[in-house]
Amino acid sequence: MNRFADRDHQVSFLAEQLVEIEQRLIPTGLHVFGRAAELKEKADLLRMVASFERPEHGARALPALVADALGLDPDVLSEEPNNETKELIDGMVADAISRFCEKEAAHAAGWLNSKASVKVEDSLQTFKLLEKISEQLDLNHEIESLMRALRGEYIEPGPGADIVQNPFVLPTGRNTHAVNPYSVPSRTAFDRAQFTADALLRRYLDEHGRYPRAMALVLWGLDNIKTQGEGVAQALWLLGVRPIRDALNRATEVEEIPLDELQRPRIDVVMTVSGIFRDLFTPTMALLDKAVRRVAGLDEPPEMNYVRRNVSESVESGTADFDDAVARVFSNAPGNYGTNVNFMVMQSAWENEAALGDLFVTRKCFAYTRDSKGRTVEGHEAPELMNDALARVEATYQNIDSFEVGITDVDHYFEYLGGISKAVEKRSQSRPSIYLSDSLSPQTKIRSLEETVRLETRTKTLNPKWYEGMLKHGFRGVAEIENHVANTFGWSATADAVDPWIYTEISKTFLLDEEMFNRLHKLNPHSLQSLAKRLLEAHDRGYWNPDEEVLEKLREIIFQLENKVSVA
Ligand code: BEZ
Ligand code: MG
Repeated sequence: MNRFADRDHQVSFLAEQLVEIEQRLIPTGLHVFGRAAELKEKADLLRMVASFERPEHGARALPALVADALGLDPDVLSEEPNNETKELIDGMVADAISRFCEKEAAHAAGWLNSKASVKVEDSLQTFKLLEKISEQLDLNHEIESLMRALRGEYIEPGPGADIVQNPFVLPTGRNTHAVNPYSVPSRTAFDRAQFTADALLRRYLDEHGRYPRAMALVLWGLDNIKTQGEGVAQALWLLGVRPIRDALNRATEVEEIPLDELQRPRIDVVMTVSGIFRDLFTPTMALLDKAVRRVAGLDEPPEMNYVRRNVSESVESGTADFDDAVARVFSNAPGNYGTNVNFMVMQSAWENEAALGDLFVTRKCFAYTRDSKGRTVEGHEAPELMNDALARVEATYQNIDSFEVGITDVDHYFEYLGGISKAVEKRSQSRPSIYLSDSLSPQTKIRSLEETVRLETRTKTLNPKWYEGMLKHGFRGVAEIENHVANTFGWSATADAVDPWIYTEISKTFLLDEEMFNRLHKLNPHSLQSLAKRLLEAHDRGYWNPDEEVLEKLREIIFQLENKVSVA
C-alpha cells in the first residue's frame, strides 16, 4: 500500500470511530426512583424507539420511511464514515421527534411530509405508537407500587426488556414476568442469532484464518428473557442445530442443519450459565445439553464437526467416558449464584491473576447434563470436565443486548466474561480472543473486548456528558464514577484488556485537574479516595506505568483523604 493509500485508510478508520462514538446512546444520569423521564431524555428514547421497524404495531422505522420517500437505497442508513445522507436523515428524524414532543403526532407527521414528502398516513402510524409510549413515560407508579409491595399487595406484572427492545415494558413500577422457557428461543431470536453468530465467526476467521477449536459462551437469565433467547439461539446455531417444536409448540428437541447447508464446521461451545438462567430456564438447559450430545453423535468428518472431534479426543485419551466428555453446560451448585470473582477484585483480595480464573471454575464447575442411563444430572461438581472443555477454547463471547447497561457499568460482565477468559488462559495456555456483540443496534456489530473497553471509556467514563450527568446526583454520582473505574480495572485483572492511556486519562480528568478534584472531594471524599487507590493498584499490579510524579501525587491524595475519611 502506498503512503497516501495508507493515510486515507487511517483517516477513514478514524472517521468511522468518531461516528461510532458520536452515535452511541449513553445514559446521562441515574434513574431517580419515582420520577418520570424529563423532556430531553424522553425525546432521545423516542428517537431510538422510532429507529427500529415495528411490524407488530404496523409502525415503520422513521429513518427508513424518510429514505424511502426520498427515493434512497436503504443502505444509506448504514453507519459508514462521512455518511452525510444518513446524517441528514437522522437530523430530520430528530427534528420531527422534537416537534412531536412539543406538539402532537399530526403536527410531526405534517412536518415530515413537508420536509421529506413522507406520506402522512405512513408516519402517523409510527407517531401514534410514540404517543402511547410517551403517555406511559409520563406516568410513574414506582413509589406507589413499592408501598403496595411492602404491604404485601398484588403488583401487576409486565414484560422484562429494555424500552427500545419492547416499549411495552412501560409503565415502570410493575413486577417483571419471565417468559415460558419452552418458547425459547423464539423464531425471531433464532433468525437474529444466525446473523450475530455468523458475524462472530467471520470476525474470528478474519483474525485467525480458521475457525476456533471451541468457544466459551456466557448466558444470562434476564438477557434471554429480554430477547426471547437470543443467546441460547446463538449457541444452537454455532453447534449447527435448530430447535424443533412439539405438538404443544414447545422447543424440546433439536435437529441438525446439514453441513452442506451450514457451509462451515460445527463449533464446540462451552456454556457457562448464571444461577438465574439455571433457575428460569430448566428445560432450556436440557435442550442445550441435548444439542451437544446430538452433534457429538453425528457421523461426520472430524474437521467439520469440532464437537465430535473434541469429545472423541477426551474419550480416547481416557480423560472421560462419552457421557462425561460431552458435558458443556456448566453453572453454580444448585441454589448458588455468582462467581465471586467481582468481590475478589473489588476487595483487592487476590495474589495473582490465575487465582481469579481458578475461583471462576470452583464456583461454576457444576455440570447440568445426563448420565449413561439418560437420567438428568442437575449440578454435578465436575472441575475436571470443565477444565478439559476449557483447555480447547480459543475464543470467549457474551451477547450484549441492551443499551442501558454496558461492560463498565456493573461488575458482572468482568466477573463472568473476564472470569471465564482468565480460566481459559491458564487451561489452554493461551489467552483467548474475547468478543462481545452489540446485538441491539439495527446493524449487529461484533467487537473485541479491547475495542469495547475503549468505546465504553470514551463514551462514558471520560465523556463530560456522562460524568456531568452523574455529578448532578452528588454523592451517588461520584460513587458511580468510581464504580466505572473499578469495573474498568476488573478488565485489566481478568483479561488484560485496558490500554494504559485509559488510566492516564482517568487520573488527569478526576484527580490531577484541581477544579474537578475539589468538586469530587466536596461531594464524596470516600469514593474519591477509592478511585485514587484503584489507580495506584493498577500501577502496582503492572497495568499502568505513569511518571513517578503522578504516583507521588496519587499517594499524597490517598494520604490526605485518609485523614479526612477517618475523621469524618
Ligand atoms: C442474569 O440475568 O442471569 C444475571 C443478572 C445479573 C448478573 C449476573 C447474571
Ligand atoms: Mg497480564
